[in-house]
Amino acid sequence: MKSITYAFLALALYSTNIVYAQDWSSSAELPGIEKCKDSHGHKVCYKDGNRKNIYELSESQVFNYINEGARHVMSYPVEITPMQIPLKSLENFFKNEQGSPLRRFIYRASQDISKFKSIQDIYSKLGLHQYPEFETQRGPNLIPFMGELEKEAMGVTIFGKDNARGITFSCAACHSNNLFGKKIIGLTNRFPTANEFFHLGKKLVSKVPSALYKSFFKASKEEMYIFKRTKNALKSIGIKKPIVLGLDTSLAQVGLSLSLRAEDEYASFSKKFQRRPRKSGFDKKPADSKPAVWWNVKYKTRWLSDGSIESGNPIHTNFLWNEIGRGVDLKKLENWLLDNKNKVDELTAYVFNTEAPRYNDFFPRRIDIAKAKRGEKIFLKTCSGCHGEYQKGWSDNSTVSYEEAIETTKVWYHKKTPVIDIGTDPLRYEGMKYFAKDLNKLKISKSIKTIVTPQKGYVPPPLVGIWSRWPYFHNNSAPSLYEVITPDFKRVKNYIAVESVDPKTDFDFNKNGYPHPSKIREPFRSKKKYFYNTKLQGLSNQGHTRMLVNDDGSEKMNETQKYEVIEFLKTL
Ligand code: HEC
Ligand code: HEC
Repeated sequence: MKSITYAFLALALYSTNIVYAQDWSSSAELPGIEKCKDSHGHKVCYKDGNRKNIYELSESQVFNYINEGARHVMSYPVEITPMQIPLKSLENFFKNEQGSPLRRFIYRASQDISKFKSIQDIYSKLGLHQYPEFETQRGPNLIPFMGELEKEAMGVTIFGKDNARGITFSCAACHSNNLFGKKIIGLTNRFPTANEFFHLGKKLVSKVPSALYKSFFKASKEEMYIFKRTKNALKSIGIKKPIVLGLDTSLAQVGLSLSLRAEDEYASFSKKFQRRPRKSGFDKKPADSKPAVWWNVKYKTRWLSDGSIESGNPIHTNFLWNEIGRGVDLKKLENWLLDNKNKVDELTAYVFNTEAPRYNDFFPRRIDIAKAKRGEKIFLKTCSGCHGEYQKGWSDNSTVSYEEAIETTKVWYHKKTPVIDIGTDPLRYEGMKYFAKDLNKLKISKSIKTIVTPQKGYVPPPLVGIWSRWPYFHNNSAPSLYEVITPDFKRVKNYIAVESVDPKTDFDFNKNGYPHPSKIREPFRSKKKYFYNTKLQGLSNQGHTRMLVNDDGSEKMNETQKYEVIEFLKTL
């Protein structure tokens, strides 16, 4: 009798924990009501639903998943990841006297690291942000309490204990930002420099002989294990520097790393290809892009800026790609993924659940509603055929409050995510051709049902939270919304980037983006690395123009109308 009750109880408990199997196939559609219309001679079909609650969990389950998922965002869950920097050695390094032989030695091995005075210096060089100290610094997406880790920086992950600690980075390193004092998870890090971590690894670890390392750092047995594992992993990691600060080379890193491995379904380690890498398109051409925002994934059915991942859970794929870029043994990763399905699900639930920061929460009552309504009319005519429709609280009901009026009550986005070529820089989408075959062949790709198909063009992104996402386009080539809606032949050719600390100095409220170069504060203005030059390969600001001009080449919108459209975009 007792055992039957237990069995029943176990079943009941189990069934409340069932994760709804999502449709990750290439035929998946958004849920909700369908609405089709004719847009400039093309039929487009929207749905009013989204996949925010991707596993269709109950409220209390969502709560649990989000809480756990948030922890993985901050601290990388894949403890088998082989590329880790031994922490104790770093600490020793910083404790050492200025003129010590250790310092002189490291100085020769690496010009960069010897300039740092502390581990915090390295974090800031890596573009990482501090955890929030006060409630007011929290944005719309949960940042969990991470205990001791909060002394480091968001995204810093420490595995192991005492003398056996290894450091690596999690999603938050590239997918979080400080937006005028608020820490926003899911917003692009405007200055992601994760690739510096790999350079640091190459300099600090791969060039230093193990025996020397051991004696200089008085490294423990555990520390030597981390050191040697990293040294070994680095042999299968191909790195490329971004063309400019603000872009990321993760894609190239995956492609170049695969070219150091065998062509079998586990991309096995290969001495032969480590010595003589297979040829890769990334040797000659860049395919840089910025980390995408997370709150858009709930509206999409294919992933990445070019929509090239046409099936499979994008978070699953992320683990695979992240780990190829960190030199993992794919047989080990295969087992890890099987054993840690819950972690993948939790992180997936978190990412799909993220929300955009709202303009009105930062700058209360600064949006001119009448002006935004005029912009909405232009938007519906000129933009919504690609970017979707955004139902506002204002309708024609004049009795609603200001806050209710600017609220977006519904998003109508393509039931199947389109890819459209509007002539923006092609290098990023072309990059997919270099390694799609290698990726699709992998056993893990097959078992997680990831299919990558190179595309021609990019996804017209949903524009929720667009005000907070400057600079614009996949390659950051437009510094403000104003430039996005200005034809390429009149678009600015250069700009200077600046951190979003104080809106008075760091934000152009009218154009919505970076201030004019003459207004950029120091040290940003004089530092070359913040200068964006659209003449460089991969940084072209061409395209997104056809819809902005008449047949005779003249602009469709005058200045007044452009600012009306911008006013509307701020409300999204
Ligand atoms: C080294 C920086 C970096 C790290 C770390 C990183 N990402 Fe990304 N992520 C990117 C870049 C760059 C892109 C966009 C690539 C593109 O589409 O051109 C991206 C795209 C994505 C997308 C696709 C969004 C869309 O609209 O299709 C998702 C989802 C995502 N990342 C989730 C994650 C998760 C989860 C983690 C942690 C496990 C993570 N990322 C870690 C750089 C990073
Ligand atoms: C024919 C389809 C199409 C039309 C019409 C269109 N866009 Fe776009 N838009 C795109 C595509 C595709 C991209 C992505 C380009 C890239 O990243 O290279 C894009 C990018 C953008 C971005 C940058 C998004 C980001 O995350 O950086 C904004 C903002 C934008 N469009 C606004 C508008 C506005 C406003 C209009 C109307 C005046 C408009 N678009 C009309 C296709 C279109």
